[in-house]
Amino acid sequence: MADHDKLATAMMTDRNLALELIRVTEAAAIAASRWIGLGKKNEADGAAVEAMRKAFDAVAIDGTVVIGEGEMDEAPMLFIGEKVGAGGPSMDIAVDPLEGTTLTAKAGPNAIATLALAESGNFLHAPDIYMDKIAVGAGLPAGIVNLDAPVAQNLRDLARAKHCDVSDLVACILDRERHHDLIAHCREAGARVMLISDGDVAGVIATAMPDSQIDIYLGSGGAPEGVLAAAALRCVGGQMQGRLLYESDDQIERVRGMGHADPKRCFSCEEMAKGDVMFAATGVTGGAMLRGVKRSLGGAITHSIVMRSHSGTVRYIEAHHNFVQKTWTPT
Ligand code: FBP
Repeated sequence: MADHDKLATAMMTDRNLALELIRVTEAAAIAASRWIGLGKKNEADGAAVEAMRKAFDAVAIDGTVVIGEGEMDEAPMLFIGEKVGAGGPSMDIAVDPLEGTTLTAKAGPNAIATLALAESGNFLHAPDIYMDKIAVGAGLPAGIVNLDAPVAQNLRDLARAKHCDVSDLVACILDRERHHDLIAHCREAGARVMLISDGDVAGVIATAMPDSQIDIYLGSGGAPEGVLAAAALRCVGGQMQGRLLYESDDQIERVRGMGHADPKRCFSCEEMAKGDVMFAATGVTGGAMLRGVKRSLGGAITHSIVMRSHSGTVRYIEAHHNFVQKTWTPT
């Protein structure tokens, strides 16, 4: 095949892939939506996992799950190392079929079905432990915030770069006891704090969304969610740093076993999600970034986002699903 034909085929594959990925997150979101507000987070999660796993069967990739539902012995599906896809280019996949299980169970905002995809070896291998995170949106000087700097200094530097006062800044933080001091320091520095009950992937991405009121994301949350958020920020141009947090020596050894020579180092966004990255998400419950699944008799409307770091294109897709005509049956 001539070089320009190869390029055309690669571009076509990439374009089709974006839509294929959306189909996968849509399937997970529709399945999870059956459980919105029913107080059953595990059932919601299980439905999303199963639907996402099934939907991957139609995607033309040779995929390996590197961020998933856990180790092989603890997750029946989408476990780390599991092969997915119908065959094609080798890709690594990060998935969170339902990011916000409790949000879904309580019909709270910002639950999403999400995944990211990159060439093999390009995602940080992050176990299911905590990660300390800091993130800001696009268009700011490189290194404007630093995970190791005092909160007040980060807020001062960010305000200067945004040509505003610290009191104009909003910091998004997970509402957790462990963040008591962090929240106090933000408020003492003069910034406002938006506390979220769950869903820090959406919280991090919000820093880079023009219409969100969030200027900075701070605090610790899941490490796998950190890698997914980094993949999304790579596409929209924000900055993020993350450092794995350990609760035991066993966790440190486990991380060393995953190939991290220095388990305590701070990773940049580019180190967590390298190269050309695609990110897709479908809203399960409504939020600042995506509308939730709207179900009706025999159908549903979904709202999704798909973006790619190589082109920087961000696409929103509203899909009207007819369950009667679908080849797969949503649960
Ligand atoms: P679930 O999807 O498991 O309900 O939790 C989502 C989440 O809020 C993430 O967004 C976040 O990274 C993590 O949980 C925080 O963990 P914890 O609830 O232990 O503070």
